[in-house]
Amino acid sequence: MERIFITGGSGLLGSKFPTITHDYEIITTYNENPKDNAVKLDITNEKDVLGIIESLNPDLIIHSAALTNVDYCEDHHEEADRINAQGTLNLVKACQKIDAKFIYVSTDFVFDGKKGMYKEVEKTNPLNYYAKSKLKGEEYIQNSDLNYLIARVSVLYGWHTNFNFVTWVINELKAGNQINIVTDEYNSPTYADNAAEAILNIYSKDRGGLYHIAGDERINRFDFAKNIAQVFELDETLINPILSEELIRKAPRPMDSSLSVEKAQNHLDIKLLNTKEGLKEMKKVIE
Ligand SMILES: NC(=O)c1ccc[n+]([C@@H]2O[C@H](COP(=O)([O-])OP(=O)(O)OC[C@H]3O[C@@H](n4cnc5c(N)ncnc54)[C@H](OP(=O)(O)O)[C@@H]3O)[C@@H](O)[C@H]2O)c1
Repeated sequence: MERIFITGGSGLLGSKFPTITHDYEIITTYNENPKDNAVKLDITNEKDVLGIIESLNPDLIIHSAALTNVDYCEDHHEEADRINAQGTLNLVKACQKIDAKFIYVSTDFVFDGKKGMYKEVEKTNPLNYYAKSKLKGEEYIQNSDLNYLIARVSVLYGWHTNFNFVTWVINELKAGNQINIVTDEYNSPTYADNAAEAILNIYSKDRGGLYHIAGDERINRFDFAKNIAQVFELDETLINPILSEELIRKAPRPMDSSLSVEKAQNHLDIKLLNTKEGLKEMKKVIE
């Protein structure tokens, strides 16, 4: 049985892999938040990264760990680089010592958001430091001789111990709280379980290069929140439309970083879900 080593196993996306397949031996890692059956690894420690990769000798490394707090990264450039760029380089170097494929999970934020529905061939231009550090990770991989695939996802959502946009909206609406959501920022919200399944599916086809593995829909946050309320049968009148200029946030966001998933969809056997489809799948988990 092939062995897959997954960083960020305590995170939203990384935690999904062991739940969706029995076809592979899956080994996941955590850093600060222990998770059952996961191995402790700080990806900034080059020696530990090499030691664990050489001893486990996986067939595939899926690198999902990252410092994902966009506003925190804006104030902590050195830490963002250490984890998102240098941490990725440590994994690249370790992967080069063994004969494994490398899949790196990246972000729609590598684009400046002036256009939207970005294809894989389009020029990147990150607006914030989080995205700059993630793009450095992409470049380390592209400049290596690894057999790699870069999977860019967008606004991940799903059940997890930490809040994401969907679980936060559900929580607020259940509590009867009014929430203000922007109407002018567009993404391609990605159901984490669907992304994990798609990443394993594309791996099984031995594809390489850049892929946008995201939700199959360009949607603004306000409409996404409305969809959440509708699918989870919550009070959508509690959701108020606002403009992004009314929000005070440290890091600039792209206005429209939606991703075209046409290339991935042509190569996958499974469907990349739109928000209603993803939310319905998410709801089924608790029914
Ligand atoms: N969330 C989104 O909306 C979004 C959008 C686009 C792209 N992405 C990308 O998708 C991937 C998965 O995101 P996610 O939302 O699932 O992440 P997440 O829930 O924020 O989890 C981050 C993971 O990274 C681990 N980590 C952080 N620092 C580490 C370090 N120094 N050494 C080892 N592990 C470390 C964390 O471990 P501990 O918690 O145990 O410390 C955790 O498992 C990331 O690469 C992210 O950049 C995410």
